[in-house]
Amino acid sequence: MKLGLALALLILPVPAAAARSGDQAFASIPGVERPERARQNYILKCQGCHGPTAQGNRSNTPPMADMVARFLAVPGGRAFLGRVPGVATAAVADAELAELLNWTLYRFDAAHVPPGFKPYGAAEIGKLRKAPLRTDAASTRRVLVDDISKAQAAGK
Ligand code: HEC
Repeated sequence: MKLGLALALLILPVPAAAARSGDQAFASIPGVERPERARQNYILKCQGCHGPTAQGNRSNTPPMADMVARFLAVPGGRAFLGRVPGVATAAVADAELAELLNWTLYRFDAAHVPPGFKPYGAAEIGKLRKAPLRTDAASTRRVLVDDISKAQAAGK
């Protein structure tokens, strides 16, 4: 970066919303056209259960922080993320939902996004959400979490 530009960036005021969310650190997230829109959608549709830092809550919602992208590494995990009830039934159009899920992965668990990850797109999400998990969500999740633990133990 040129020194002049670097100085200008230091001096320019950061927009309040970006400063609050830390989104400037994720200026370019694969599969996320508008990070600010994704953040708003998260606040409105997901945060009530998952919490502002995706820490979840002890009574009914498991943490996504430092965890959610691990599902991408086990068979069936990618589909699971698009089929959990909170995602599949969210009142958001397919393209925005794909964006929101991609944002969620990078925002809360960038470290575990596998190399070569292909972001979710509208068509894939549209298909997955047509087969939402319902009462079987928790049991499906348990099997996948078990697979994740086994893969970890095997050093994968
Ligand atoms: C009513 C509470 C609730 C809302 C609202 C909700 N979720 Fe969830 N979410 C859960 C629970 C509980 C699970 C665990 C799986 C299950 O039993 O459904 C989960 C699981 C997930 C998972 C799979 C990862 C895991 O650890 O199981 C993702 C990804 C996810 N949610 C994203 C979202 C997104 C994005 C939104 C907003 C569009 C959202 N959720 C809204 C409760 C919620």
